[in-house]
Amino acid sequence: MAAGTERVAERIRRAGRPFSGVSPERLAPEIAAIDLERPLHDHAAALDELERVYLRDAVYFHHPRYLAHLNCPVVIPALLGEAVLSAVNSSLDTWDQSAGGTLIERRLIEWTAGRIGFGPAADGVFTSGGTQSNLHALLLAREEAHAIAGAVSSRLRVITSEAGHFSVRKAANLLGLGPDAVVTVETDADRRMRPEALARELDRCRRAGLVVMAVVATAGTTDFGSIDPLPEIAALCESAGVWLHVDAAYGCGLLVSRRRRHLLDGIERADSVTVDFHKSFFQPVSSSAVLVRDGAVLRHAAHHADYLNPLRMAERGIPNQVDKSLQTTRRFDALKLWLTLRVMGPDAVGELFDEVVDRAAASYALVAADPRFEVVTRSPLSTLVFRYLPPEGPGRKLADDANLYAREALAASGEAVVAGTTVDGRHYLKFTLLNPETTLDDVAHVLDLLAGHAQRYVDDLAPLADHSEVTHVHP
Ligand SMILES: Cc1ncc(COP(=O)(O)O)c(C=O)c1O
Repeated sequence: MAAGTERVAERIRRAGRPFSGVSPERLAPEIAAIDLERPLHDHAAALDELERVYLRDAVYFHHPRYLAHLNCPVVIPALLGEAVLSAVNSSLDTWDQSAGGTLIERRLIEWTAGRIGFGPAADGVFTSGGTQSNLHALLLAREEAHAIAGAVSSRLRVITSEAGHFSVRKAANLLGLGPDAVVTVETDADRRMRPEALARELDRCRRAGLVVMAVVATAGTTDFGSIDPLPEIAALCESAGVWLHVDAAYGCGLLVSRRRRHLLDGIERADSVTVDFHKSFFQPVSSSAVLVRDGAVLRHAAHHADYLNPLRMAERGIPNQVDKSLQTTRRFDALKLWLTLRVMGPDAVGELFDEVVDRAAASYALVAADPRFEVVTRSPLSTLVFRYLPPEGPGRKLADDANLYAREALAASGEAVVAGTTVDGRHYLKFTLLNPETTLDDVAHVLDLLAGHAQRYVDDLAPLADHSEVTHVHP
């Protein structure tokens, strides 16, 4: 264990770039060539092999020029928690497989609910991630809609904004709702749900005899970090008697921010909330939770099995978390957050998050003032969506492919990793800043690299662009 730890620590310390740029074609044969029927019987040899098939080419989120997805570098107390929880291997489905682990998870749910501003009836459970948390919340909302409105599945609707996460659609599918179940409403220029569009949609559904089983507001959209206007949305949901779910998978870091907690005002009026500690609390994957304002609704996911959690246990008050969870055997992920809070405390985590939000604001100013780029909107969190805009002339029409090319060329070089997305049908580049060690110089350097790749693409192809359709060329 010590040798393995040292090896990984050394890798992370020495990583000169976030990625080696390896392609699946180059790596796949190395992994395929390993004979799983012939063990090495030696930890050091297995680690040497691992170096070759994984560690050498892994993507290192700790590197300051990893700017791509919603992945964070992890804090050391959480890493310690990860080692302890795997070693003890508690399973949090029942008290008799976890003992104190169950109580620690419950304390953290209580703590998170307190940060949200929920009252004493609140409850929740740790999950594997935001996708599961959203599914769980929507399952509860569906059951409430069935119970209250007696609605049939084909008439149920879920309203979210056009910037909402795709897991909402996936959840609706899994819940057996029809293909038209998820309705998206427009966002404003800052990519926040328009309350008037929501009001219109609620009204349209009501007049059409449809039952809106949930509105999903997003506190931190994946691309823009935008936070839907929670108080206005909560008011509309309250007057329509509709379940409000807030997907704060990304924005939950604000719960511990001393400077920006107000951005989540209104979240306490939600019926359910998704928080992903593995996005903005600097926790290793997985660490997420779903919280509900009224813990009684969790009964909708309960099943009592004779061998595991018979009803008589619940009646005796034995704390079996499986009574609330979609999973059975379940990791003690809560331990990572526990050790983080016990060693560092919430303010320190909030400061780390505030730092990346500050850096994103400074990066926005940098890009907005740079004529090589155009930027979509200023994120209240830590993303930046922008694109390289070739100078006026024949190269302009290559903008889409030039941005696609720049992202791929940069990843292949391994110098930095950035993400991409589309906005109004156009290809954009995206930074997600979650590493407090990323400096503004890192950001400026990556912008130069991207502009260099994109411009090279344009220079090579612009002479052809006047005459023919130019297709995307891979680096
Ligand atoms: C807003 C939002 N919700 C939900 C999710 C899904 O979370 P997970 O990847 O943990 O399943 C994401 C992931 O990026 C997200 O950005």
